[in-house]
Amino acid sequence: MRILITGSNGLLGQKLVGQLSKNEKLSFLATSKGENRNPSCPSENYSSLDITNSDEVLKTITAYSPDYIIHTAAITNVDYCELNQLECERVNVGGTKNLFESSKKIGAHFLFLSTDFVFDGEEGNYKETDHPNPLSIYAESKRDGELLLIQSNYSNWSIARTIIVFGEGQNLSRSNIVLWARESLSLGKTLNIIDDQFRSPTWADDLAWGCIQICEQNRKGIYHLSGPETMSIYELVIRIGRFFKLDTSSINRTDSSSLNQAAKRPPKTGFDLSKSKKDIGYQPKTLEESLHLLS
Ligand SMILES: NC(=O)c1ccc[n+]([C@@H]2O[C@H](COP(=O)([O-])OP(=O)(O)OC[C@H]3O[C@@H](n4cnc5c(N)ncnc54)[C@H](OP(=O)(O)O)[C@@H]3O)[C@@H](O)[C@H]2O)c1
Repeated sequence: MRILITGSNGLLGQKLVGQLSKNEKLSFLATSKGENRNPSCPSENYSSLDITNSDEVLKTITAYSPDYIIHTAAITNVDYCELNQLECERVNVGGTKNLFESSKKIGAHFLFLSTDFVFDGEEGNYKETDHPNPLSIYAESKRDGELLLIQSNYSNWSIARTIIVFGEGQNLSRSNIVLWARESLSLGKTLNIIDDQFRSPTWADDLAWGCIQICEQNRKGIYHLSGPETMSIYELVIRIGRFFKLDTSSINRTDSSSLNQAAKRPPKTGFDLSKSKKDIGYQPKTLEESLHLLS
């Protein structure tokens, strides 16, 4: 089985490369914009690919002829997307369209990474069948990507939605909340952390495992893949601090209105994971179980 990954320089992309390298049943081609920045990805498994270039996308996909495409590449900075709408749409929607069209041409399964932000966060504990209502440009771009698949008459696709992904990678273009909180607390910084947004932080290795299972088990449709616990961002940062035995007395509670962020966020997400547990055997680690595995 041949798998092509987009966004292999990103956090999830790096975890996919790590797991696929160890799986003798699968071969893979890792792609990302520009040079390979993942030292764990062998150069013979890497090809540079800008997903906004439709000719390049078709050429790469036709030449490699994968059975599965795991599409992780995206502009993931939510506030940047809010301020750069056209660029966000060009990459997150246009790039997805280029890849999906090429998948259809060669009959490959297309797995698209999406987000809890497709929901408005009024209810929480979302099921795959719940009704999306995106609140930001980033969220809309991801929902538009989903709709390309859902409204198509080509059925060989899946969507994996996830929530705040964390873990360690190499030469990442952006950090994540766990690394940021550990670093900031170890430097003794004062942190003002919101207590009115609730999320289920996701260990990147669990998410990568879930994506590979969707491919290996040839599952189709929408899957929710997040961590198993929903907590406020404040609780998350406190638990990170306590786990690493750092002083948490400088963590202050605040609320979203104090942040003046460009993009609106859903107050409470979190997923009902019943379908993923039942169908693919997804068993995500708790926050502390994951933190144990960080170096
Ligand atoms: N991280 C989260 O908390 C989170 C939450 C919900 C959903 N998701 C979704 O999960 C997926 C993976 O997230 P992640 O955390 O691994 O993201 P990430 O670390 O930001 O990686 C995304 C990768 O996409 C690449 N990319 C951007 N534009 C590209 C283009 N035009 N052509 C090719 N590659 C391009 C980036 O390249 P550069 O490194 O060169 O910029 C980056 O390596 C994304 O689709 C995201 O929307 C993530």
